[in-house]
Amino acid sequence: MWPRVSEPLKIPCVVAFARLGREVEVAAGELLLEVLEQAGVAIASLCRGGSCGTCRVRLLAGAPVIESRHGLRQDQREDGWILTCCARTVPGQRIVLDL
Ligand code: FES
Repeated sequence: MWPRVSEPLKIPCVVAFARLGREVEVAAGELLLEVLEQAGVAIASLCRGGSCGTCRVRLLAGAPVIESRHGLRQDQREDGWILTCCARTVPGQRIVLDL
């Protein structure tokens, strides 16, 4: 008989800041912009809704859930930029940002 599981498994996500040499472990489904703010990493933001492009950061590794790319030009998208206000952490992932 299998043991009874009373709570769902919570698999965290690691968000690493490559140039700062730091990383944090966070829950899945968190907005990257909020992860950065809570970690004390300086990042500008204005609309917080995916249209201004202010919160953009280059993604070096990992595959966050992308909710919008409207605030990015095509060349920025192709060069790996994401909008941190529109990207969420994924269980078990290591997301590396160029910060
Ligand atoms: S703050 Fe405007 S796109 Fe993220």
